[in-house]
Amino acid sequence: MQKQQLLYKGKAKSVYETDNADYLILHFRDDTSAFNGERVEQLARKGQVNNKFNAYIMQKLSEAGVETHFEEQLSHNEVLVKRMDMIPVECVVRNYAAGSLVRRLGLEEGEKLTPPTYELFYKDDALGDPMVNESQSVTFGWATQAQLDEMRRLTTQVNDVLSEMFDSAGMILVDFKLEFGVFKDRIVLGDEFSPDGCRIWDKETKKKLDKDRFRQSLGDVIEAYEEVANRLGIPLD
Ligand code: TMP
Repeated sequence: MQKQQLLYKGKAKSVYETDNADYLILHFRDDTSAFNGERVEQLARKGQVNNKFNAYIMQKLSEAGVETHFEEQLSHNEVLVKRMDMIPVECVVRNYAAGSLVRRLGLEEGEKLTPPTYELFYKDDALGDPMVNESQSVTFGWATQAQLDEMRRLTTQVNDVLSEMFDSAGMILVDFKLEFGVFKDRIVLGDEFSPDGCRIWDKETKKKLDKDRFRQSLGDVIEAYEEVANRLGIPLD
């Protein structure tokens, strides 16, 4: 598949067209952003680590029956994916309280959430990705109720698969964000799953191993991502 013109440059990935209208190439860059793009830094190896991390997780999810846009890892930084119509609603599951939930509801970080909570955010940088609900998503035409039902079912399934995977490797999957798209009338998992879009803590020490290390200036950001990958047995070379 031939890489063609740049279609879109996101905060961490660039999206290229290919000579096949059904496929795109994603290029994972080293750019690391936080606070809705207010702070951006280059972190060496991040693009490569996230590309390989994402490829491994997407393949595991696919084996578990979750259809994903992942087709083939093309190089250290590039992946071939299905071209989808993206649904502009992000799905967040929280197994433990952290981040914006703690700020919004005045909770203690680390409180176990039983059952896990499920939240939706409207993907809009200018508005700062506000939290929304299913009713608004339908009213404003972002997704149909049937699509939202399927997104929730798939997100719950992803949580079951990945919580178990991280637990077995001595880590806690605190929360994560997924994005879905429509490919040939099916709801398919898109974007990426990497430590950029989830929270992962060490089970014993509660050490943060995700992008909160960047947001909170804790240092050793990519070293932590690599530690997670090593513990999960993800090859990074
Ligand atoms: P939050 O606590 O900031 O709402 O984020 C919850 C989880 O979802 C956290 O793992 C980060 C992830 N997330 C993103 O990666 N991008 C987003 O735009 C949002 C809203 C959340």
